[in-house]
Amino acid sequence: MDNITYHSNKISDSSRAALMGQHGCVLWFTGLSGSGKSTVACETEKMLFESGIKTFLLDGDNLRFGLNSDLGFSKEDRDENIRRIAETAKLMAQAGLTVLVSAISPYEKQRERAREIISPAAAFVEVFVDAPAEVCMQRDPKGLYKKALSGEIKEFTGVSSPYEAPECPDLHLETAKSDVYECAKAVFDYHSFLQSADSLMRVLTETAVNAGEKINEIYSRGYSVDYKSDNSPITDADRAADAYINAVLAEKYPDFARLSEESADDPKRRENDFCFIIDPLDGTREFVDRNGEFTVNIGLSHCGRAIAGVVFIPVTGDLYYAFTGRGAYRVSAKNAYTVFCQNDRVFVSDKTDKITVMHSRSSLDEKTKALIEKNRDRISKAIPCGSSIKGCLIAAGKAESYYRFAGTYEWDTCAMQAVAECAGGVFLQCDLTPMRYNRADTFNAKGFVIANMRENIWII
Ligand code: ADX
Repeated sequence: MDNITYHSNKISDSSRAALMGQHGCVLWFTGLSGSGKSTVACETEKMLFESGIKTFLLDGDNLRFGLNSDLGFSKEDRDENIRRIAETAKLMAQAGLTVLVSAISPYEKQRERAREIISPAAAFVEVFVDAPAEVCMQRDPKGLYKKALSGEIKEFTGVSSPYEAPECPDLHLETAKSDVYECAKAVFDYHSFLQSADSLMRVLTETAVNAGEKINEIYSRGYSVDYKSDNSPITDADRAADAYINAVLAEKYPDFARLSEESADDPKRRENDFCFIIDPLDGTREFVDRNGEFTVNIGLSHCGRAIAGVVFIPVTGDLYYAFTGRGAYRVSAKNAYTVFCQNDRVFVSDKTDKITVMHSRSSLDEKTKALIEKNRDRISKAIPCGSSIKGCLIAAGKAESYYRFAGTYEWDTCAMQAVAECAGGVFLQCDLTPMRYNRADTFNAKGFVIANMRENIWII
């Protein structure tokens, strides 16, 4: 990386997308040999193509004739194989295409790496093409399992080399239970949803801003404070915003589930791939203390991942929003705004020294305090702040990290996570595992950390 500089061109990804009439994205099919990856990918491509989408299919087998002809099947070679495919897919997605990748990609780390390479530039959809190993062996379309079982082929995935099933795929297809058409249709439908991000984001930003107006009105006229069973405060502003947001989303997105801090939890939400995760007023303590540091959070999870989010700060009028593959944005809701305007994009900073650390104002825990103390020489400022504003400031490059070891709930983090990640940041639980959403237990027991980059997540 020495002596090279990145040369930017004059055409942005979004102008390119406008000319193409679509937003580049990568549909990454992973699964055992014989699971049906290539069959489903081909069928999906045909469906997309016939509906006018510009596509290209990168097939692992085929790439091994050219780009990857120097690679074998050792762990190292497979890592390199997947890295090259990911970089190639990224470039093609940046060119505006819907890229379908079909490769075994047997290791979770490889696929995570592929997501890291691709997802700042385009949506990355991990499609787990799942069929039991016995079924794949029975199908054995290329006669390779037979050879692998007899020892003629070494390090064969599923026989003498591991396959790590995705822990949290964006789509899970079971090819022994559904036919090719059904599987392809599921991918096609999710692709269509991703392409419709503009209309979703218009609804979510408008809803958050309107809810914020209702909150502001109550904030200025005065209110009484009640306390819930866990001793946390609730006011008419929480209730009014909750009722409004739920009513709008129920009407506009009746097929999506909802989980809200202030509404009864319907366990049926877990059967739905899509779930809005709502905190109508995050930072009620701040609201009660009248310091202005409270937000409206509307997140959207799909199959456990935070894929979109809106965080609105009613008092300042700052609106942050993000959608997977499309980036994170900040606008002033006081002015008219169009969603996904490139001038409004925000990015995390690249600072690793003398960084700014955000921490909770109302519940700074002992562990966080100790961590800040221990790293004093690497920190220039430690700023107390309420609600999801902290994660948004990291997304906007105004701070570098935020630790919180104390527990929170899904609605405290989902929208903020989408914003921080889409701005290029990292969001992990404090044990460094990923945070998932729409869980049975909505308590985030492990705490979390947000940082502009992995280097700023100090091992705890
Ligand atoms: S990956 O593991 O690096 O992702 P990739 O998808 O590119 O694999 O290539 C897998 C294809 O190579 C299989 O579909 C199969 O036809 C062929 N192949 C040859 N040897 C092996 C092996 N040892 N393990 C898996 N696939 C193999």
